[in-house]
Parts: sequence; structure tokens; C-alpha cells
Amino acid sequence: MLNLVLLGGEGIGPEVVEATAQVLKHLVPDVELQRPIHGEAAIAAHGTSIPDATKEACRRADAILYGATHKHCKDVLRFLRWGLTTFANLRPSKTRPGLPSPLKKDVPIDLLIVRENVEGEYPTREGELRDFVARWPEFTDVIGQKIPAEGAFALRITTEIGCRRVSAVAAQAALRRRESGRPGKVTIVTKQNIFARGDGMFRSIAEEILDAAKVPHDHYYIDDACRRLVAQPENFDVILTPNMFGDIMSDIAAELVGGLGMAPSGCVGERWSYFESVHGSAPDIAGKGIANPLGSIQSLSLLFRLTLDRPADATLLEEAVAATLANGYRTADLAESATRPVSTEEMGNAVLEQLERRAATAASGPA
Ligand code: NAI
Ligand code: MG
Repeated sequence: MLNLVLLGGEGIGPEVVEATAQVLKHLVPDVELQRPIHGEAAIAAHGTSIPDATKEACRRADAILYGATHKHCKDVLRFLRWGLTTFANLRPSKTRPGLPSPLKKDVPIDLLIVRENVEGEYPTREGELRDFVARWPEFTDVIGQKIPAEGAFALRITTEIGCRRVSAVAAQAALRRRESGRPGKVTIVTKQNIFARGDGMFRSIAEEILDAAKVPHDHYYIDDACRRLVAQPENFDVILTPNMFGDIMSDIAAELVGGLGMAPSGCVGERWSYFESVHGSAPDIAGKGIANPLGSIQSLSLLFRLTLDRPADATLLEEAVAATLANGYRTADLAESATRPVSTEEMGNAVLEQLERRAATAASGPA
């Protein structure tokens, strides 16, 4: 039996995760869903946002569905990423006919960003420059300047193992996409011209692993890659990039195909995985019941494909979401000003209705 942990987090997180739970229960009726205490309630009861028992439930689960972090759940997110070493974050963006896009031209976008998820500038490693200079007075920058004694610094970390494991995930993803008719090409995105060591290593290891897997690849610097993502998004297939660049590029990519409310993501490691929409807690609309649940619901489809090996359920769900949108259902973030937007619950129910319709058709057999 499948055992999944649901952590709503904060803001709109619990709202979209509950809508997703209904869809999950429909597709996998015997799923065991746990909702262990976390966040603000856990801080009040246990003095920590993620008690040991909740961590243990996550470790024992087949996978985790997460909502969003605002202020109380920072340690929850840290556990999901660093505690469970979910080092690769997969963020697909695909054109949906009729959804808002800032692009002037109508081009089919179908890309996947593979973001390194646990290194680079994350988790926060910051300090006072005066402490840095006191410990390392002879350190200079690339043009020989001493470090100023006032201000703050942040550390950006790149390791060989970190580069290898995320590159392997990108290679596998490209090969899977090739099987389904996509080009199966990886574009590596770095700022190697500035971070010659860290991003230089990221790029050369990525190239080595992609060559070994016989996956074609190219490379752009992050600034040029962002420009290309807006100018020719149809030319991208898989994008492999360090943590912060992936964080930023995936918001841009989401905006091109309907916005943050539509954007799913899956964070995978060797042993554990968790799934969450790309968006955050959306404090401006939290508690109103109007958040778009489709980013979270589509993350379920990634869960079926990447972790549970249930591609048929993933396809069914993707078809149900496409049909719901084709029938005109729009939450406020997707709605034109003239239409009546649906609530989070109504959107979730519309997807459920599509799934029920498909189940009924399958049960009655071919006509
Ligand atoms: P955000 O993603 O929460 O919101 C940005 C904009 O998109 C807002 O106008 C919001 O209403 C809208 N939006 C987002 N998701 C939506 C949905 N499902 N339906 C309709 N509209 C939606 O990003 P923001 O405002 O930069 O950050 C708010 C908080 O979320 C911050 O505390 C931030 O640190 C946190 N955050 C957490 C993330 C996570 O848990 N993985 C990711 C990004 C931000
Ligand atoms: Mg982000």
C-alpha cells in the first residue's frame, strides 16, 4: 500500500495540498495519507516546526507532498531538502492552449528545468565581512583587491559529487524525453565566465556525464540563457543549472505558460523525494480559497512518474487537467477580467469530475 505524507506548510500551501489530496485519493483509493504536525502548530506544541516524529514519518513514507513556506516552516523546507538530500529539482513548463502568456508569438513550449537543489548559495551561509577579514586578512578578489572590512558576505558552494548526481538526473530525464519524441537535448546554464572554478566544474562534469550517456548538449551563460528563454523558449528541451539560476529561470519559464499557479515541481534524491508547486505561500491571497491548485495537482503527476512508477496515472491526471482547462475553468490568476473565476475547491472538483468521467468510460469499455 502507498504511504504518503502531506505537509501543507503555510499560506496557500494547505489549501492547494488539500485539493491535491482529493485527487490523489481518487486515483489511488487505498493510499495511506498521513498529516503529521508541523509548522506553527508544532512550534506551539513542541517548540520546533518539524518534530522528530514528523521527520520519521517523512523518512518512512513513499514520498511527501509539500505546500509552501513563509515564516514558520523554514525548518520544514530545510529538512525536506537537506535532511532528505533531495538534490535535484525538476520543474517542467509546458504550453497550455488558452492560458495567459506575456509572449507576443504563439510558440509551443515544452521544457524541463533540472535545478541543483542543495548547493550553491543555499542554505544560507552568510556572515559579517569584518569577521571574514579578521580570519583571512590576505584573501583578495580576482583583481587583487582586499576584501572591504564592512558589509556582509555569502558563500557559494559547488562540489564534485553535487555536480555528478544532478547531471545524472538531467541525463536520465533527457533520455526519457527522447523516448517520448522530444529532442532529449540538455542545455547547461552557468556563469562560468565569473565563477570559473565552481561553475567551470559544474559545466565540465555535466559535459562528461552527458557525453557518457550519449545525450547531446550545449551551454549558455545565465544572462544569455534568460534572454533566450524569453526570445526562443521553443528551442529549449532540458535545462541543467546550479541552484539559484534554476530558482530564477523556473519562475520565468512558469510565467511563459500560465504563471506560478500552474507550475509543478519534484525534488528527488537517492532515497527520498518530495513534491511541491514552484510558488510560495502567496500571502496576498492566502485564506481566501482562490489559489490555483493546479501547480500542486500537477506535482502529483511528477510523483507518479518519478517516484511511484505509475505513468498511466500520470497520463490520466495530465489529460484530466488539460480537459478541465479546455472546458474553461480558470482560477483568478488565469481568468480574463470578464470571466467568473472558480475557487480552489471548484478547480479541484472539476479535475476530479474529469477523472471520474474517464474512469466511467474505461469501465464501460470501448463503444
Ligand atoms: P509567491 O509564489 O508566494 O507569490 C508570487 C505571486 O504569485 C503572488 O501575487 C501570488 O498571489 C501569486 N501566486 C502564487 N501562487 C499562486 C497560486 N497557486 N494561485 C494564484 N496565485 C498565485 O512568491 P512571493 O510573494 O515572492 O513569496 C511569498 C512567500 O513565499 C515568501 O515568504 C517566500 O520566501 C516564500 N516562498 C516559498 C517557496 C517554497 O516554499 N518553496 C517558494 C517561493 C517563495
Ligand atoms: Mg523560487
